[in-house]
This record gives sequence, C-alpha cells and structure tokens, in this order.
Amino acid sequence: MSIAPPRTEASEEETMILDVVRRLVRERVEPRAAEIDATAEFPWDIKELFAENDLLGIPFPSEFGGLGGSFLTYVKVVEEVAKACASSSLIIAVQELGALPILIGGSDEQKRRWIPDLAAGTTIAAYALTEPGSGSDAAGSMRTTARRDGDAYVLDGSKIWITNGSVADVVTVFAVNDATKGPNGISAFVVEKGTPGFGIGKLEKKMGIRGSPTVSLTFDNCRVPVANRLGEEGEGFKIAMKVLDKSRPGIAAQALGIAQGALDYATDYTKQRVAFGKPISQQQGLQFMLADMRTEVEAARLLLYESARKCDDGAADVTLWAAMAKLKCGDVAMSVTTDAVQLLGGYGYSAEYPVERMMRDAKITQIYEGTQQIQRIVIARSMVGKWSPPKS
Ligand code: CAA
Repeated sequence: MSIAPPRTEASEEETMILDVVRRLVRERVEPRAAEIDATAEFPWDIKELFAENDLLGIPFPSEFGGLGGSFLTYVKVVEEVAKACASSSLIIAVQELGALPILIGGSDEQKRRWIPDLAAGTTIAAYALTEPGSGSDAAGSMRTTARRDGDAYVLDGSKIWITNGSVADVVTVFAVNDATKGPNGISAFVVEKGTPGFGIGKLEKKMGIRGSPTVSLTFDNCRVPVANRLGEEGEGFKIAMKVLDKSRPGIAAQALGIAQGALDYATDYTKQRVAFGKPISQQQGLQFMLADMRTEVEAARLLLYESARKCDDGAADVTLWAAMAKLKCGDVAMSVTTDAVQLLGGYGYSAEYPVERMMRDAKITQIYEGTQQIQRIVIARSMVGKWSPPKS
C-alpha cells in the first residue's frame, strides 16, 4: 500500500518552481525593490520577467494555457516575491484576482478567449468591485449600473482603488442590473481596454505598494457585448465573493512574505549591531521580540498553507479559511514590520534600509481584499450565521 506523503512536503514541481523564483528574486527583483518604491512606477521589466518564467498563470488550468499548478504553489511563489518586493508580488496576485472571475463564472468560450493571454502574461487583468461609496458594503452600496440594450449592456458609473486598472487589458466590472434584487441584481462583465466610454481616472499616491498602480475607472454610456457577461444576469455578486475566497490567500501570502522579509533583515541586523559591548541579538529584551516575531510568522504560515490546501481540495469551508489566513497574515505583517523598524532603531526609520518600506507596504494588507473587520465578519458568520429580521 502506498502511503501519501505528508502534506507539508513540497512536490518535485513545486520545489523546482520555488528554486527558480528564489533565484529570480535574488538576482532581479530584490535589487529593483527600493527603486520601484521610490519611482512609484509599474515595473514592466518585472512583469516581463514573470511572464517569461510562466509565473503569471500558476494555478490556471493547463487546458487554458496555465501551468496547472497547485494553489499552494501559487501562494508560496507570491510569498517568495513579497519577501523582497511587495509591489512585484502584487503583479502575480492581481493577475490571479483579475482572471478568477472568468475562471469561476465564465463559459469555456470566454475562458478560451481571455485566459491563455493572461496566463502567458501578454495581457494584464484587473478586478473592479469597489466604488467611491461602496467598499466593505460591496453589494448594498454599489451604484454602477448595467442596462440591457439589445445585444449589449450599457455601463454607467465609476470604480475606485482598482489595482492595475491603468495597465490592464481586461477588467471584470461588477454592476447593478436590477436595483430591486439586492445582491442578486448584480452582474459581472469583462470590459476590454479601449472600449468607448471606458475611462481611466486618477492615479492614487499611496503610502505603500507604490509600484502597483491604483486608479479610478469611469464608465460613461459604455457598451459591453452580452457575450462579455460572466455567468447569468444577477450572478455577479456571488462570482465576486467566490473570487475573494481564492484571492484572499494570495494577499495573505503577500503579507506573510513582507513579514518574513522584515524578520530576516532585522535578525541579521541584530547580529551585526553592537551595543553595551555585545551584539544586540544577545540582549534578552530583543531576543524576546525576535522570538515572538518568528512564532507569529510561523503560525501565520501554517494558517495560510492550510487555506491554500483547502482551495486545492475545493473544500466547503474555503470562505472561512481564506478570511482567517488574510486576517492573521495581515496583522502579523503589520506587527512584525513595526517591530523590525524598532529593532533597527534610527536606521529602521530611514529609507536607506528596507524595513521602513516593508512597514509601509504591510499596512495595505490589513485594508484591501476586505478589511480585517470584514474578515472577522466573514469568520463569525461562518460560526453563527447572518441574522435577518423575522418576517412579519
Ligand atoms: N461564496 C458564494 N456566495 C456568497 C459568498 C461566498 N463566499 N459570500 C456571500 N455569498 C452570497 C450569499 O450566500 C448571499 O446569497 P443569497 O442572497 O442567495 O442568500 C449573497 O451572496 C449576499 O451575501 P451576504 O448577504 O453575505 O452579503 P452582504 O451584503 O452581507 O456582504 C460581505 C457580505 C462579506 C460583507 C461582502 O460584502 C464583502 O466581502 N465585503 C468586502 C468587499 C471586499 O473584500 N472588497 C475587496 C475589493 S478587491 C481588492 O481590494 C483587490 C485589490 O485591490 C488587490
């Protein structure tokens, strides 16, 4: 009888991919990280590097041009890249986020139309759910509308905080087609770059992930063919939520990578820096900090990898695990990077050293893809349900 390998063991394919990624990160990504942050420009060279090495479609099915890799491999790749550069890791994570609505809600024809180019990295995807007045309350406050007109839908409204919105070739846009139906009156559409009436608005100046463009999008009488609707009319919100179940672990991986990168840097620093006659790593007060940081990072990693395995297994409770992974990894990223800055003292506060960038980059992981408060709502609802007022 063959015994399945323990779940913690990496497959041969995963080991190979991670070896390549570690080399690329060391040679090409890490040396660019500070510059990407300083210039706040989308790193096209890094996007090309990832495309050439097949890193943009790791978990996409091979029949649609993807690598057909596991979800676990995908999150480990995001984590490796984020150890050096959070903005670069987002190129991989948002390609996944932007392609997922098509993979989850699209027909075979739609997948064949868009996924191979996204997997190859010749096109870029974005995901447009959030609006100026609709962040956490994604369904209840959505105002962008989609009105059916013959063989098209006419989209009107705007989206905000759209990662990669200005560089994307295909954007999945969620819009209200029937305001009387609440979440069941929302549909999903793929809007292609250059579609008349589709505009790119303000580029945000941000605290962190500065190499990742975040923009607003406008839709003004924008005609989108019915053939670009994903799923049935009214299925859009459920598609949006199913996407987040699989994309939140990607952001958790980004957060974990940032935390690990900061911990590695701070640990090395404490071994070099001498105070009161010995390396500060030998000061018990700082050892306690290092020990807590390491323990938190490892705990977050276990939760993340388990959530990724749940995605691979198609587990029924993936919503819960994705939310727990995002919550834990985001909070650990923030606390560990803050402590890393503390361990470096004045140097930690200087842009000469990477930990201040890591601390700025960490903050967004507590905000996007659902705030930490939203993750807690999702987790608690999986335990006690959503309350509805009794019908009179
Ligand atoms: N899978 C499938 N269906 C789901 C679902 C899921 N995970 N979650 C909810 N649904 C279904 C519900 O079952 C319900 O269906 P029925 O009407 O048939 O019962 C319907 O969707 C509505 O669900 P809720 O009643 O739970 O909806 P709600 O209005 O209470 O909202 C919420 C739930 C969890 C708060 C949700 O609005 C949410 O996740 N908000 C946060 C939005 C978010 O994460 N935005 C991130 C934007 S993307 C981003 O940030 C990317 C980036 O920049 C990199």
